[in-house]
Amino acid sequence: MTNSASGQPPLIRARGLTKTFGDRTAVAGIDFEVRDGEFFGFLGPNGAGKTTTMRMIAGVSPRTAGELEILGRDPDRDGSLIRAQIGVVHQQETLDMELSVRENLLIFGRFFGMPRPAIAARADELLELFQLADRAKDQVEPLSGGMKRRLSIARSLIASPRILMLDEPTTGLDPQARHLLWDALQRLKRGGTTIVLTTHYMDEAEQLCDRLVVMDEAKIVAEGSPRQLIEQHASREVLELRFPGGTENLDAAVLEGIGDRYERLAERVIIGCENGEAAHARALEHGLSPESWLVRRSSLEDVFLRLTGRSLDE
Ligand SMILES: Nc1ncnc2c1ncn2[C@@H]1O[C@H](COP(=O)(O)OP(=O)(O)O)[C@@H](O)[C@H]1O
Ligand SMILES: [Mg+2]
Repeated sequence: MTNSASGQPPLIRARGLTKTFGDRTAVAGIDFEVRDGEFFGFLGPNGAGKTTTMRMIAGVSPRTAGELEILGRDPDRDGSLIRAQIGVVHQQETLDMELSVRENLLIFGRFFGMPRPAIAARADELLELFQLADRAKDQVEPLSGGMKRRLSIARSLIASPRILMLDEPTTGLDPQARHLLWDALQRLKRGGTTIVLTTHYMDEAEQLCDRLVVMDEAKIVAEGSPRQLIEQHASREVLELRFPGGTENLDAAVLEGIGDRYERLAERVIIGCENGEAAHARALEHGLSPESWLVRRSSLEDVFLRLTGRSLDE
């Protein structure tokens, strides 16, 4: 068994993990490990195989082939033991709309057979963590989409599972609701919960994940921290030069000399480079006079484009 840097065995370990539906291969022999306390992501476009992988980890869908170990156990043999230690949040809300926010948490605690005082204490802690304390007595129905999503996640945590699994947790939420949710998840992670998330949003993966795998067409195409992935597959910064009069007359030899690589668009030149400010200075030295310019950090978007030749936008 491979151990993580800390010497602890991984909480989740997959080798050659495979799932087929008839002659369709949804997950084609993937390897990954999730370590204790880590925020781990599966990033990829629709149909990549993320949900199928999550369902195998959560012990609700048997694998077709390969090895899978969750908390040292085989989900084929110890499914119910594993399910008791994993909190799972699906994309669809399954909250009880007629109960109050707090009652939704209490009821779930009773499903787990927790003692009442322990349920109440944990419920209040989670209401605080997910910024729902002032809505505790309100009915669920009129809450915003973001609040409902936070409540679903809080509910899955009532029995303090070792691992929280989130499938596309911010799809359909507005930017402010996403940020509130991200903040709550980061606080939760600091409290020691291991979190596994799928997303097709690159900014979400970049903001939240300690480590992630990029999935495309049932396979893992890259793995690492957001920073490592960007370092490995993209330049550190991007310099964008804007030429409203068009870029076709710019000298290719000059553009090549500015950074590591460049792309010529109709009115912009995009230059991948180590240091955008220095590249800008070189551009001016070489006689370029863009109307405006900006420097940005390379993102996972640039990584995904380079790895797959496609954008994640659908
Ligand atoms: N129950 C199923 N039966 C048949 N095909 C499925 C089933 N679930 C998923 N698939 C197929 O497996 C592939 C991966 O799906 P999924 O894991 O849902 O991807 P993602 O979550 O990354 O969007 C897709 O081609 C999907 O159509
Ligand atoms: Mg999915």
